[in-house]
Parts: sequence; structure tokens; C-alpha cells
Amino acid sequence: MPNVHICEVGPRDGLQNAKHLMPTEAKKAWIGALAAAGLREIEVGSFVPAKLIPAMADTADIVSFARTIPGLKVVALAPNLKGFQRAVEAGAHKITFPVSASRAHSESNVRMTPDQMIEEVRRCAELKLPVEIEGAVSTAFGCTLQGEVAEEEVVRIAVALAGFCDAVALADTVGYANPAQVKRIFSLVKKQIGKKLEGAHFHDTRGLGIANALAAYEVGVRNFDSSMGGLGGCPFAPGASGNVITEDLVFMFESMGVATGISMEKLFAAREILVKGIPDEPIYGHTPLAGLPKGFRAAA
Ligand code: COA
Ligand code: ZN
Repeated sequence: MPNVHICEVGPRDGLQNAKHLMPTEAKKAWIGALAAAGLREIEVGSFVPAKLIPAMADTADIVSFARTIPGLKVVALAPNLKGFQRAVEAGAHKITFPVSASRAHSESNVRMTPDQMIEEVRRCAELKLPVEIEGAVSTAFGCTLQGEVAEEEVVRIAVALAGFCDAVALADTVGYANPAQVKRIFSLVKKQIGKKLEGAHFHDTRGLGIANALAAYEVGVRNFDSSMGGLGGCPFAPGASGNVITEDLVFMFESMGVATGISMEKLFAAREILVKGIPDEPIYGHTPLAGLPKGFRAAA
């Protein structure tokens, strides 16, 4: 059993912000390679209007492909009831909703206030369909549009979502968080909603993604989102850049003796498939460039 659970969000968070489109067949090859490397949960796309994000136009096809991979939890993002219905119809196992704690980002991203978005997620949850629902509190650590985001607002939204979601995550959508803040806010929210608080979603915009992940781990978080090659960012949050890099996150945990269930070698192989699928897109990562240290031993 892995000690931490990593959800690869590259096919959604990564590709939604890429300058180049990855062909559907290349997405499938990449997702297959990620699963073969040991990733047990992959956010494969979003159900948003194709006009808005053309890179996500093939998500239904991608979800049905991903469902054929044994043991893989297939996650999709939905911004509203219509997206939720499309995701359920396609067969996603888990659906995540972005609920911004910043009113400015919420209005830019989903054209709803945070409270309207909470009600939208509640309507979906009340349908009681056999699918896992995650409420992700976006811009929980600050916002490029609004600036500071009040911690009480993050807690208020997380508590509201915990009332009807299966799980709640906190997301640093624009890479503003620092480790002290991460420990403080995760602890505050955990005090209110306990085990319903699951995921941590960090962006590496200011180089603190991995430090923030470690800080979250130290206050008991065991579920992390990350993106291969550090792709990522929200097109409706100016200044957002890539997620914490999967290869570096797995390396950090494995070298600490914290098992992820993921093979570094197979992760590097999946990275080659990513590069082939979207060759003109810049991709990042320290461990893949430097290589594994001599004598590296994965966690038992
Ligand atoms: N999938 C596909 N089409 C959708 C849709 C969805 N989830 N939601 C709405 N639509 C369609 C409507 O049917 C309508 O179509 P029509 O013009 O043919 O009648 C059109 O889009 C406008 O619908 P409306 O409800 O007025 O949406 P909107 O224009 O106010 O946009 C969102 C609201 C939520 C759909 C949009 O802001 C959005 O998709 N945001 C997510 C952005 C994102 O992916 N951010 C990054 C991830 S956090
Ligand atoms: Zn993100």
C-alpha cells in the first residue's frame, strides 16, 4: 500500500493551458504510460464548452478510453451541472468542481460567484448519482485578480462543500502559497471538516510547489495533485503557471522512504511519450534532467 496517493492532473490542468494541442491518440498513449508507471488516479480532462478550451474537446472519448485501464480512477473536472451530466454520461469515476475562494477568479473562471458555485455543486450532489464528488477550493492561498484571499472565506467554503461533497481539496491555483501558510490553512480546515479534507493541489509558479507539498504532508495530507513535466495553469487566472512536477514529487517522497506506488523509471518513460505527443511544448522537471542519484533506492 502506498503511503501517499498522487493524482496526475497533466492531461487536464496541463493540457488546458498548453500552447499546442495534443492529439487524442497521443493523450491516450500518455495516460496509458502514466497508469503503467503506477499512477492510480488521473484527471484526464474537463467537461467545459469546447469553444472555451479546445484542448478539452475530446474529454468524453478520453474518459471512455481511461475507463478501460484496470484499477485506474478516472477523474474529470466539471464547472457546472451541464459539465457534471456530461462527465457522468461519459463514465468518470470522480468529478471535481473548482469553487474559487476569490470572487474575482470565480466570476472570471465559471461566471458565478463563490456562493452561486457552491449551490451549483450542491444541485449536482443532490442528484445522488453513483460518482464521487470533490469540491476543490481554488485560489485558496491568494489570487492574481483579487490579491489576498481571506482565510475565513476558505474555511467557510470548505465547510459548505464538506456538507455534500465526498471530499474537499485546497488548491493554490496561481502559485502564491508558502509552506507556513499551507500548514496553517490546511490545519484550520482540517479542524472543521476532518477526514473530508483530502487533496492538496499546488502550482510551482514561484518555485515553492514541492516545499508546499512537503508542508502539507507534515500536517497529515496524503493526497496530492501534480503534473508531469510541470505543465499546467488556469487560462482564467492570469499569471498561473505549471503544477508541482510529478517526477520531482515522486522522487521527493520515494527518497524520503514514503511509498507512492509509482516507478521512477516508468515515469521517465511516460515523460518521453508526453514529449512525443506535444513536442513543441516546453516541459520542466529537475529529477528527469539530472537523473536519479547513484544508489537511489525507492521506498519499500
Ligand atoms: N459543457 C459544454 N457546453 C456547456 C457547458 C459545459 N459544461 N456549460 C454550458 N455550456 C453551453 C451551454 O449549453 C450554452 O450553449 P448554447 O450557446 O449553444 O446554448 C453555452 O455553453 C453557454 O452556457 P452558459 O450556461 O451561459 O455558460 P457561460 O457562458 O456562462 O459559461 C461556464 C459558464 C461555467 C460553462 C464556463 O465559464 C466554463 O466552462 N468555465 C470553466 C473554465 C475552465 O475550464 N477553467 C479551468 C479549470 S478550473
Ligand atoms: Zn491547477
